[in-house]
Amino acid sequence: MKNNFTMSNWELPTLAQYLIEERRRYPESIGELNSLLLDIGCACKVISKMLGYMSLCTELSDVSTEINVQGESQKALDVLSNETFIEATQRSGNLVAIVSEEMEEPYVIPKNLAQGKYLLVHDPLDGSSNIDVNAGVGSIFSVFRAPEDVIEGRRPVSKEDFLQPGKQQIAAGYAIYGPSTMLVLTVGRGVHGFTLEPYTGEFRLTHPNMQVHKATNEFAINASNSRFWEAPVKRYIDECLSGSLGPRGKDFNMRWVASMVAEAHRILIRGGVFMYPRDSKNPEKQGRLRLLYEASPIAMLMENAGGMCSTGYGPIHDVEPEQVHQRIGVIFGSAEEVSLIESYHHNTEDQSSYEESPLFAVRGLFRK
Ligand code: F6P
Repeated sequence: MKNNFTMSNWELPTLAQYLIEERRRYPESIGELNSLLLDIGCACKVISKMLGYMSLCTELSDVSTEINVQGESQKALDVLSNETFIEATQRSGNLVAIVSEEMEEPYVIPKNLAQGKYLLVHDPLDGSSNIDVNAGVGSIFSVFRAPEDVIEGRRPVSKEDFLQPGKQQIAAGYAIYGPSTMLVLTVGRGVHGFTLEPYTGEFRLTHPNMQVHKATNEFAINASNSRFWEAPVKRYIDECLSGSLGPRGKDFNMRWVASMVAEAHRILIRGGVFMYPRDSKNPEKQGRLRLLYEASPIAMLMENAGGMCSTGYGPIHDVEPEQVHQRIGVIFGSAEEVSLIESYHHNTEDQSSYEESPLFAVRGLFRK
């Protein structure tokens, strides 16, 4: 009998082999994108290792926190993961600059290193509040092309060069550090999942052509925010909670991991809908999640896997960013559910009538 646990899965293409095959489709390409994606894969391997022995290493398990540019606590591992992304990607001559959740200003590739044509945006450790409890976290990334005059060296790169809508992404993906480490990637032709195989240290293609199921009976939302939700969101959740007795005529399950990467991965594997909608909790903010390095990459992945990603009012990929750390309401996953939620946002009658819904009325389950 073949011992699957001690032998490498030689028959499964590695990330490098997959990227080389993809590149054959673009004879004019010189391999810079591939090189960048392999560097990102390398960063993710290092972060995966760091997470693996975190509790054994005082430096890594340090939970003393700084406040980052988002006004959120920053753990030692957030900082180290950010440094890992920079170190792994800055030396190959593929990049011009990097925007990260952990840095207020873009990191410009130093002049003594070769410059390339891409801009990298990333959240090096998403869901990091889960670190202390040893639960799922991930890294999210996305690649844009820099403007031509920047590539040609006619002017320095600026913050504004990153303000590109999601539909201009060249590639996007995430790594999830769960029981196994996976890298899930799109370069615009499907979504492919690679599992880190310990014997060779390679990411191997275990999940080709991932597809989001069209229909689902699973939703994920932080229900503690229900009193701040807009009427269309209240209506949708109310209908899910009414289950087989309500207008949907079927029972739903709820999930909340508090790590968007983990929720996105679950949805790519078995369907579902995730919502962190715009709400009235912090009226000055448009939402909780960041447009450039959280919502946009997930939108590219969802759409390449047959799912949808919306603000509630329209596709995330059309939103023109105004700031690099801008936040936005995000709803993604199974196309049937996201379309339904969008239709509730477009139906203004629902908005007012739903304030009176039994679940949100004075004695309701999610009382306003
Ligand atoms: O980046 C923000 C994040 O950690 C997401 O991964 C996650 O979906 C969300 O915050 C969790 O938010 P909350 O703390 O409101 O549950």
